[in-house]
Amino acid sequence: MDSDTVIAADPLGILAEANARASETLALASRHLDPSLVDVLGILGFDKEYVSAEGSYLYDRDGRAYLDFHTGEGFASLGHNHPSVRETLEATLAAGLVDGVQIHYSVLAGMLAAALCERLPGALEAVFFTSAGAEAVDAAMKFARAATGRPRLLSCQSGFHGVTLGPLSLVGDDFFKEGFGPLLPGCASVPFGDLDALERELSGNDVAAFIVEPIQGRTVTLPPEGYLASAQELCRRHGTLFVLDEIQTGLGRTGRWFALERWGLEPDFVLVGKALSGGYMPTAAMVTTRDIFQRAVGALERCYVHQSTYGRNRLSMAAGLAVIRVIERDQLLVNAARVGRQLREGLLELQSRHDIIKEIRAEGLIIGIELGAPKSRVARVNWRLIHLASEGLFPQLVVIPLHRDHGVITMAAGKNDVIKLLPPLTLSSEEAAGFLAALGAVLAECEGAGAKNWAVVRDIATATLRRRSRHAAT
Ligand SMILES: Cc1ncc(COP(=O)(O)O)c(C=O)c1O
Repeated sequence: MDSDTVIAADPLGILAEANARASETLALASRHLDPSLVDVLGILGFDKEYVSAEGSYLYDRDGRAYLDFHTGEGFASLGHNHPSVRETLEATLAAGLVDGVQIHYSVLAGMLAAALCERLPGALEAVFFTSAGAEAVDAAMKFARAATGRPRLLSCQSGFHGVTLGPLSLVGDDFFKEGFGPLLPGCASVPFGDLDALERELSGNDVAAFIVEPIQGRTVTLPPEGYLASAQELCRRHGTLFVLDEIQTGLGRTGRWFALERWGLEPDFVLVGKALSGGYMPTAAMVTTRDIFQRAVGALERCYVHQSTYGRNRLSMAAGLAVIRVIERDQLLVNAARVGRQLREGLLELQSRHDIIKEIRAEGLIIGIELGAPKSRVARVNWRLIHLASEGLFPQLVVIPLHRDHGVITMAAGKNDVIKLLPPLTLSSEEAAGFLAALGAVLAECEGAGAKNWAVVRDIATATLRRRSRHAAT
């Protein structure tokens, strides 16, 4: 909302108050939400007051547009505030449907379940709806254990599946887990792409499920050729259920409905989230076979043992259906593949001119730009200092000026040197070209160690090291 927005229907004055208190946003977040995150936003210069969003852009109070190449990690995969999804949600609310009654199934839930299953391999026909992706992962962990009677769960190093206690036990990076143990017993991980390690773990025939992202989302790591099909085959041979976490890659992100299509996979579970929200509603799903579903919770006396209060609420179901229809109507799979190719080619061209780009990894509109050590001696000294201060800080050399000088939002993807791009599936060719031009300008400015981009990140690194030595001294 900007201050000029006419608030048509606001019977409790909530939006009017939000508008009046907009300048308190960060102070409120500091007091009642997470002050550390507010601090980090300030340090990186991301502490903007965004007041509205539409399509590929966010707008701040001064009317400056920011091209969003992150979309809340794929939450706004159709772009922000998509009008067709909003109209569907408004119509759903206006219809006064029954909701939240656990002894009732709405037809919308059945329609969305059917629409997902129609786009997945044949045997996947049973759906459990949840609010968050992590809850869908958790459901698969439980169903796999119950259906197989086996205790162990296997995942991949560097994988990500959410941060509630169950999925966290599958997450690869220790950084997320520190301080939260003990985690779930029976969980282990193998290197992504290593079939021998996988077979060793499966050979005891006690693993309920192998849970894997088809493309590792945090670093945009693609699987080695043949890996996923062979992993699926190994799982079958050892009676282990094969779970594909497509929460990030599903629903058009890779230029296909699901990434699994590229390798012709037929998993026992597919997990869906993020894009299913339409950028509005918390919506996720666990999809499995009827046989596995029945083995896990199929008896009459077990039909309540796994449940979710908000899982199939009407607005989430309507949002999910709207997303699928918009992707189809507007041919967004074709668009994601086409604009994805344009971005990939443009990025490879930039890589040929800038030695700081080590690798481009992309499939449709999930794209990783991995940075490497610069060649010049002075720049290398700064590169080392920055890594000493904090793993994952270096990509800010590009991310900060892209945002500050060019109004482009990207993200550094954690404790590594990857800049991750998840633009909306609706991205136009002109917007893609605008992004490439902005990135090209930033990379040109980063050449040479004296440039202001280096100075900003070096200052953050120096302050981090000072803070650390002060902590160590006390
Ligand atoms: C592959 C994958 N699985 C699971 C999750 C967890 O989803 P949520 O944050 O909705 O719980 C994420 C979130 O980033 C994800 O990328």
